[in-house]
Amino acid sequence: MRIDVVTIFPGYLDPLRHALLGKAIERGIMTVAVHDLRSWSHDVHRTVDDSPFGGGPGMVMVPTVWGPALDDVAALTGPAAESSPLETALAHKLAHTGAGSVTDGDGTTGPVTDGSGGEGGTGEGAGSGTTGSGSDCGSGDDGTTGRDDRPLLIVPTPAGAPFTQETAARWSTEDRLVFACGRYEGIDQRVVDDAAERYRVEEVSIGDYVLIGGEVAVLVIAEAVVRLIPGVLGNRRSHEEDSFSDGLLEGPSYTKPREWRGLAVPDVLLSGNHALVDRWRRDQSLIRTAERRPDLLADVDLSARDREIIQGVIGEVTEENC
Ligand code: ADE
Repeated sequence: MRIDVVTIFPGYLDPLRHALLGKAIERGIMTVAVHDLRSWSHDVHRTVDDSPFGGGPGMVMVPTVWGPALDDVAALTGPAAESSPLETALAHKLAHTGAGSVTDGDGTTGPVTDGSGGEGGTGEGAGSGTTGSGSDCGSGDDGTTGRDDRPLLIVPTPAGAPFTQETAARWSTEDRLVFACGRYEGIDQRVVDDAAERYRVEEVSIGDYVLIGGEVAVLVIAEAVVRLIPGVLGNRRSHEEDSFSDGLLEGPSYTKPREWRGLAVPDVLLSGNHALVDRWRRDQSLIRTAERRPDLLADVDLSARDREIIQGVIGEVTEENC
């Protein structure tokens, strides 16, 4: 997968170089390129915003800068071809020790990105090599598979559709994700409308609150998506058993010691009886979901036994209470 982020604060995206996402870059599973929107602004002050038509507070990001930026990122031309792919923090460390490859904790060896910090990379190499249609024809159909190969443009905004685990799973199979980070009162709507010529476009919100800009939302979305790509998480089961993967919240987890500060691990987890452990885990998920997110229960297939467990928390399970 290749991820491009367009922002006026490239440094905000540095966390992408760390931990799991950094490892995915090391392994060549993912390439990330961060582009400074101001590279497409040509006035002396490198302006990217202006006052809103119709009046009102704040500033709106101008289409005359965003349009060319998104054209170039789709086609990987202009300044978008020049920005070097994001390197991982580990690559930087190794550059100082002179090592050429890294052995991961799980014993696999992955390639290391050049840590020189030099310019000129084009972002090629890892990922699928998809560069999008790069054309301005609306369909993006590759003519052979019937698949729309235009990159997916994601615009984080509090006015977007909710970003959920289902969205993350859907996007985890994409070849190219391009994120457009708005600031101020957002981006002129014509940018999003026009981008639909070169991209498939989705406007999403990560929650019912307002952030200062889209950058933090990109970090959240990228982490949720990338961890679902095969090979990124060591243990596949760990995301199959996530909260939300079966529509329920995950129950509590325990590790050693068996007793800590007078608190014991539930006996069933020490029983060695896998059927009992599975049933106990399901019950804990049901109880937690009923207590914290009863709205989720409406979309879950519930057995008679499941309903009994939930009744213990919220009484009779009806259309009204879940
Ligand atoms: N930008 C500002 N607030 C946001 C939110 N809640 N979700 C996504 N992008 C945002």
